[in-house]
Amino acid sequence: MTTSNPQPQPPALPDTPCYLNGEFTALKDAKISVMDRGFIFGDGIYEVVPLYGGRPFRFAQHMARMERSLAELRIANPQTRQGWQDIAMKLAADYALQQHTSPEKLDLLVYIQITRGVAPRDHVMLPGLTPTVFVMINSLRPVPPEQRAHGVACVTADDFRWSKAHIKSTSLLGAVLARQISADVDAVETVMFRNGVLSEGASSNVWVVKDGKVMGPPCDNLVLEGIRYGLIEEICREAGIGFELRRISREEVFAADELLLSSATKEVLAITKLDGKPVGNGQPGPVCAKLYAAYQRAKQAHTEQA
Ligand code: PDD
Repeated sequence: MTTSNPQPQPPALPDTPCYLNGEFTALKDAKISVMDRGFIFGDGIYEVVPLYGGRPFRFAQHMARMERSLAELRIANPQTRQGWQDIAMKLAADYALQQHTSPEKLDLLVYIQITRGVAPRDHVMLPGLTPTVFVMINSLRPVPPEQRAHGVACVTADDFRWSKAHIKSTSLLGAVLARQISADVDAVETVMFRNGVLSEGASSNVWVVKDGKVMGPPCDNLVLEGIRYGLIEEICREAGIGFELRRISREEVFAADELLLSSATKEVLAITKLDGKPVGNGQPGPVCAKLYAAYQRAKQAHTEQA
């Protein structure tokens, strides 16, 4: 009898609906050319948009960021905002149908990717290419209740990514290498510093709370301006919580009362351990609780408008 452990199997691709270059199809059937510049150069951009109550949340802001990313790559937007919304809603309806429910009852995540298109390999941005357009949909997996209740452990690393982090580029090797640093020690995110100054997480923004005030790095080329930047600022203004964007040193991060992560999937999530040291008293703090509650109210209000 053999006692060898079975090899870990890669997860199967879900049989979910997607959109590729004008066609709605199943994810497992969607294929692109090996000469797509997204594959050859990572020459593309993406967006990740949550849908609550069957409608995209903060859609105008996601579209505005996507337009900024496309402009940086000099790729013409292949759809209008309404066109993108129609594709997202059709995928949501098809996905819900597969689940024998309606989209209003699901929390969903739409992923949009646009690359420069297919061409012989040449670094130059060849004009006249037809962009490759891919959109897929998944259910939005909530943060596990245990992480929500107790916060998460993160580790720090140098931000060795490129200096155009404001582009939501599909060239994500830097982010993949950064994220693996935390994954290797069973931590949830890698908090990055450039020359001793806070930038962001591998796939999230990082916030520092000190003396009741929320602080984040400025929205320059060193961070991706998360859609939650604007939302957190609005929530702070409404709740009378101080809010400031400025350079934040490594020492300030380690002296924080609270640390938070934000992203489409994490919403706002407390970091309670950094490099093995407790943050504040080691439990999610009161500012995190206020921001999280207000975030849930914003989602609820969006759902009720549907
Ligand atoms: N990541 N910073 C980086 C580097 C990110 O990749 C993300 C999002 C954010 C937060 O942005 P937003 O609040 O708009 O989700 C900040 C997405 C979720 C991803 O790559 O899957």
